[in-house]
Amino acid sequence: MNTDIVIARLDNGVVALNNRCPHRSAQLHLGWNRGDCVQCPYHGWKWGENGKCMGIPAAPDGPIPPNAKATSYDCEERYGLIWVRLDGAADTEIPGHIVYDDPTFKSVHGPSYDWKTHAARRVENYTDLAHFPFVHPETLGRAGEVTFLTPNIDFRQEGRMRFRYDPPKGARRAMDAKGGLSALAFTDYTIRLPFGVTLDLNLEDGTRTVMWMWATPLDDIHCRSFWFACRNSDQDGPDQPHMDQQMVILEEDVDIVESQDPEQIPHPRDEIAVGPDKVSLTYRRLLYELCKAKADGPGALKTYLNKERENI
Ligand code: FES
Ligand code: CO
Repeated sequence: MNTDIVIARLDNGVVALNNRCPHRSAQLHLGWNRGDCVQCPYHGWKWGENGKCMGIPAAPDGPIPPNAKATSYDCEERYGLIWVRLDGAADTEIPGHIVYDDPTFKSVHGPSYDWKTHAARRVENYTDLAHFPFVHPETLGRAGEVTFLTPNIDFRQEGRMRFRYDPPKGARRAMDAKGGLSALAFTDYTIRLPFGVTLDLNLEDGTRTVMWMWATPLDDIHCRSFWFACRNSDQDGPDQPHMDQQMVILEEDVDIVESQDPEQIPHPRDEIAVGPDKVSLTYRRLLYELCKAKADGPGALKTYLNKERENI
């Protein structure tokens, strides 16, 4: 979100500070982690927890000016990632995950990747079913097997949108042919507002793979996607084949998504939709509502995110 952040694992935990030193605006990430503080590379001012100034080498006898405070953000480590809350007033929570802490699953992180698209376009691409036969004719779909799906969308809790994908015969055959997921039972998608997706792939033999992705807006037209996969099978096998499969799919998507012009989701009159675009249309509506709630203040935002909703 156009905010440069320096993140340091200090002795007492992780801190997230704005990357700009309040003294003469050098970038803090070029400095040093001193255990109890981040030390600026330029004149060595020390910045500790909550942005507190812990020392000024050129003026060791003080006093430290009262306004010598670095901008700091709430942050927390979860799912092997550092989560930073830029808007401290929002009181938002890190979304839960259905199996990350379940010992019967193995969780593996993939490398994050940056795309030239808005985070909302990234989420739409991740949850788009109609592109499978065209963009992923040998991985997720099958060329010529166009399916018309209008999934049921339900909202059970906490600003989530959830739908299920029962793969058509064509998709199953394509997977059969590759000796792969021949008995794919169903896939549950959950969109966690605003930019998170969990995809729960179930096989009939009870094995599951839960993919998790969060698209973080770098600015209005770029996003960085973080992701990991949890699987309850092949725990002792190598992770790389599982990751490689995902990388192939991402490679198939990136050029098409980056070709979307504009990068941001435009006004509704500027794109055309049909029935099976229901997922994207619903998601857009929820984003719109979320923006409205945000404009109404932190309380309204939290209420919106936690609202119980059904059958929308
Ligand atoms: Fe950071 Fe001077 S700019 S200490
Ligand atoms: Co795709």
